[in-house]
Amino acid sequence: MFKTGIFAVTSVAVVAGMVTFFSGTHITRADIDARKLYATHCETCHDAYGKPTDIGAALESADLSDAAWQEKTTDEQIIRQITDGTPEKMTPFKETLTPDEVKALVPVVRSFLKK
Ligand code: HEC
Repeated sequence: MFKTGIFAVTSVAVVAGMVTFFSGTHITRADIDARKLYATHCETCHDAYGKPTDIGAALESADLSDAAWQEKTTDEQIIRQITDGTPEKMTPFKETLTPDEVKALVPVVRSFLKK
């Protein structure tokens, strides 16, 4: 009885550890790819700090590092914006990026928040 209890507790700990380990690896890998994706697909209009480039500014892009913008914008809105874009302003990426790649860009956009 005592032994079974230890085994159960250990199993739970092992499974929890594996879940943490694998999801952690996944997030790290997605984040590295996502920064590359951002540099490739987004930096024409949003610079490496989330500020509009000259082209972005001409198209009236938001400043993605702005705290007020970050606060009022949900992750879902960021995903929708990247997926669908804005006609005549921002390119939609639904043909270029997979849904997972779009999702992976959310933490990149969030990382621009000015502290
Ligand atoms: C051709 C220029 C261009 C490219 C490339 C571009 N954007 Fe944009 N982006 C804009 C413009 C312009 C806006 C403002 C759109 C509007 O006012 O609806 C914008 C808005 C946004 C917003 C904010 C939307 C809001 O709610 O205000 C996010 C987030 C965003 N872009 C992320 C990205 C990401 C991530 C990429 C790369 C996958 C990207 N953009 C590529 C021009 C661009």
